[in-house]
Amino acid sequence: MSDVLGFVASNLGRFRAELYDFLRIPSISAKSEHDGDTRRAAEWLAEKLTSAGLSSEIVDTPGHPVVLAEWRGAGPDAPTVLIYGHYDVQPPEPLELWTSPPFEPTERDGRIYARGSADDKGQLYMHVKALEAHLATRSRLPINVVLLAEGEEEVGSENLVPFVEAHADRLACDIVLISDTGMFAEGLPSLLFSLRGLAYFEIHVHGARSDLHSGEYGGAVMNPGNALARIIASLHDTEGRIAIPGFYDDVVEWDAETRAQIAELPHSDEAFASELALGELVGEPGYGTLERLWIRPTCDVNGILCGYTGQGAKTVLPNHAMAKVSFRLVPDQDPARVKELLEEHIRVVTPAGVEVEIKELHGGRPWKASVSGPAFEAAAEALEEAFGTAPVPMGGGGSIPIVVEFEERLDATALLIGFSLPGCNLHAPDEWLPIENFEKGIGALALLYEKLG
Ligand code: BES
Ligand code: MN
Ligand code: MN
Repeated sequence: MSDVLGFVASNLGRFRAELYDFLRIPSISAKSEHDGDTRRAAEWLAEKLTSAGLSSEIVDTPGHPVVLAEWRGAGPDAPTVLIYGHYDVQPPEPLELWTSPPFEPTERDGRIYARGSADDKGQLYMHVKALEAHLATRSRLPINVVLLAEGEEEVGSENLVPFVEAHADRLACDIVLISDTGMFAEGLPSLLFSLRGLAYFEIHVHGARSDLHSGEYGGAVMNPGNALARIIASLHDTEGRIAIPGFYDDVVEWDAETRAQIAELPHSDEAFASELALGELVGEPGYGTLERLWIRPTCDVNGILCGYTGQGAKTVLPNHAMAKVSFRLVPDQDPARVKELLEEHIRVVTPAGVEVEIKELHGGRPWKASVSGPAFEAAAEALEEAFGTAPVPMGGGGSIPIVVEFEERLDATALLIGFSLPGCNLHAPDEWLPIENFEKGIGALALLYEKLG
């Protein structure tokens, strides 16, 4: 592999410069004014895949396009690997909190700062360059490859399940390989054993026909703000468990071996809290911090809208209140079941005098990996060779809803190997990716393709 790794080593400067071009395109999938940029990012990526030696195309969907690239010259005995990533990014706001502009990639302290550097353009591009390294030095790949990059991951992948269904033959594969998560710590590569699912809702509370004078009417009518506060307060018990009846019924207790592995990871609650400028951590009783983050479900308010929030005092009873509430789910919870349970619970706890309406935003099922087998072992070896340290197992607190769908619909095994680091500000100002991980990660992926072949 010295030829392939040598090619990577001598082209790192160019790889980085190309990534910066990718990062300069504001492919913000959530904002329609950036639809042109989002398509431009897809076209840019397809062009790079073509020059790397794959055949690539842009496939339109009702939303943002899918980039699909293939190289199938490894023969019928070699495995087929589906590489998945996303070229869309989260909105960069609040802009004033960025040290350097989000779409002007900037290097500081060995890091690449830009929106999408870690999530997920930087990591997706590492695959493109690892593929190029093989094709440039050997004119072939050790595996058959299908690369699928979507432009709607950050907005719920609405069009991807129908896409996978419609193109199941072309996407048929043995392994799904994804780099859209992180490493446990600097210098410590990791293999992911889980992702949480997601169920996301808006809770609207409607009161009187209009806002009302709080002196003239206060005391005689139910205030939607007060009612929403009661609903939100009813979602947890005083200890931090979720108090929706039946919520934990489908939660599978994680195996003792994985829990023991989690307990062995080098983690400090004090360091974790202080990095977040927090005095104290809280959570479900009976579980450690990493377990709370990876293998236990959550319920969180993401935003609240209600009443007068401008300068000074306005004595008013708002006639509407809204909260965005999301649940992170673990096996075998199902977003549809959580919706039923939430609806029933809210029916019971809603005070008289208001109407509640629940709108469903996006959802996704949780994923648990099969952490043994040849693909998993190949990944462990590749990471150890590239980083000089054996990888540790870790869970993923976030969600990539398509992973379970790939596994089930394509009858394949998913392998999640990420290269961002804790604190890398995913979805936040000053997102970054370590240059070291970008470089070593390309080598690790090139080695992994070889081992999978
Ligand atoms: N790459 C993340 C998911 C992720 C981050 C998994 C960190 C594990 C650790 C992905 O781009 C993401 O942000 N997903 C969304 C879900 C989606 C439905 C909007 C999430 O987790 O909120
Ligand atoms: Mn991502
Ligand atoms: Mn994301």
